[in-house]
Amino acid sequence: MRGLTRETCTWFAAAALLANLALASAPDRPAAQAPDGAQLFAVRCAGCHGRSGEGVYGPPLAGVVNEKFATVEDEVKFVSAGTGRGMPAFATQLTKAELRAIAEFTRALPKPADD
Ligand code: HEC
Repeated sequence: MRGLTRETCTWFAAAALLANLALASAPDRPAAQAPDGAQLFAVRCAGCHGRSGEGVYGPPLAGVVNEKFATVEDEVKFVSAGTGRGMPAFATQLTKAELRAIAEFTRALPKPADD
């Protein structure tokens, strides 16, 4: 009887240990927390470049950025640094991940139909 009790205890201890290990190894940042490029673009960029990147005060981005910047990284560098001609520098305003999400969003914008 005592032997059985000890065995049961050991079993429970092992199960609890395994449950803890499973919890500890779960990823701590779910993908849902990735920055939302569309939302950030609407807040930080659309005022000058238009909601669809069609261009307002700033030049159009839709259908253009993929040709101007070979890679997402090139575009992120440009947006981080800005220009002296009206494009603000965003390096200290946004995180690398946010800048990347925004750049990816602009690269996916469909080129406006010209008519
Ligand atoms: C205050 C207005 C303003 C805001 C806000 C702004 N831009 Fe600009 N952007 C400009 C202007 C003006 C230019 C053209 C600058 C130049 O030619 O030197 C430009 C140029 C660009 C270009 C290069 C386009 C090309 O054809 O060369 C990209 C890419 C760009 N902006 C992305 C962004 C992104 C992404 C954001 C938001 C994080 C943003 N901009 C916010 C005004 C703005």
